Amino acid sequence: MQDLNKLGKIFNEKFTNTSLVKGAFSAPGRVNLIGEHTDYNEGFVLPMAIEREIIMLGQLRNDRLVQVFDLAYKAETKFSLDNLFPSKKDTWANYLMGVVDEIQKTGYILQGANIIFISNIPQKAGLSSSAALEIVTALTMAELNLLKIEPVKMARLCQQAENNFVGVACGIMDQYVSRLGRKDNVLFIDCRTNNYELIPFRDSNYQIVICDSKIRRDLINSEYNKRREECKKATEFFTHRFGHKVQALRDVTIEEFKQYQEQLPETIARRARHVILENDRVQASKKAIEAGDYITFGQLMIESHQSLKVDYEVSCEELDLLVDLALKQEGVLGARMTGAGFGGCTVNLLKREKVNIFKKTIQKEYKRITGIIPDIYITIPADGAKVLKF
Ligand code: GLA
Repeated sequence: MQDLNKLGKIFNEKFTNTSLVKGAFSAPGRVNLIGEHTDYNEGFVLPMAIEREIIMLGQLRNDRLVQVFDLAYKAETKFSLDNLFPSKKDTWANYLMGVVDEIQKTGYILQGANIIFISNIPQKAGLSSSAALEIVTALTMAELNLLKIEPVKMARLCQQAENNFVGVACGIMDQYVSRLGRKDNVLFIDCRTNNYELIPFRDSNYQIVICDSKIRRDLINSEYNKRREECKKATEFFTHRFGHKVQALRDVTIEEFKQYQEQLPETIARRARHVILENDRVQASKKAIEAGDYITFGQLMIESHQSLKVDYEVSCEELDLLVDLALKQEGVLGARMTGAGFGGCTVNLLKREKVNIFKKTIQKEYKRITGIIPDIYITIPADGAKVLKF
């Protein structure tokens, strides 16, 4: 937890009107253990919230303005609830504006607010700092305005904010787990029904370790949207072949895929193969974790990475290097890229007693080859968004 008292002090110095309703809220980032690029194909994912978060302090105003200070980046912006459109200049503010716009579109009437926030989630690292900003904004605005927005609905509103204001056609996973994450559990989410199961994930022998390649690439959004298009083409192909509507790649079995793969354009066939097999791996991973079989789960992570690298083509040299370096270490059961790809982080499963040596070796070897010192995060599954005492 970042220092809430310090934050409270800054807030009180900035906003001196004490008669207005105020509150403090947090939302975490996430790491996806397995199930990559499956959410927008109405498939399965297995993410967990991490011990990195955004804390937001807010206070209602008596008008329709929202004034925001980002303490980490020393940035500020102001917008009216009556005039919401994506900003080209303050792109970070689009996450907040998008969220309030979506809340208002559902018919709720909001009051303006004074807001400050601080984050310790690294940006553009594939750990969902943007989903956390959306969720914490939604929670702040909902609670201050006394609106009861049910958690899955909140996740969905935030996803729509990202689709409409940021222009990324993302799925629901990141916002979902930032809202509904639970300490010591991973979430098995069915992205068709939007139901989830909590899978206990706390074994004193094993540890999740995240390695940040520090690579940030701008092509991520355009490539992401392109993958969605390719998946759509694949479902259209199967609709045509089966003679009935195929809603999403979730509906195509491995056998059906094998039967028709030759008829698909080569790239589309690889994209579809990744999604169909990845859905299967998520379900197998859920079973393995429930049975305490971390060896099988680790193997599935390794297969997932190969598939993302070769079939889905969303990895990059640096992520592949981090995975290769990890798999050479003693005590590592699994390693794969996590999130949308093209840079960002890998997620690793290893024996707890090997964590220190793993960290040292990865830092040394990755730096020797690339010249970059990777950041390494050790985390247990954390709680989702919360109301804090302030
Ligand atoms: C990003 C998106 C998610 C998901 C992942 C890939 O994080 O926001 O919805 O599609 O990429 O699994």
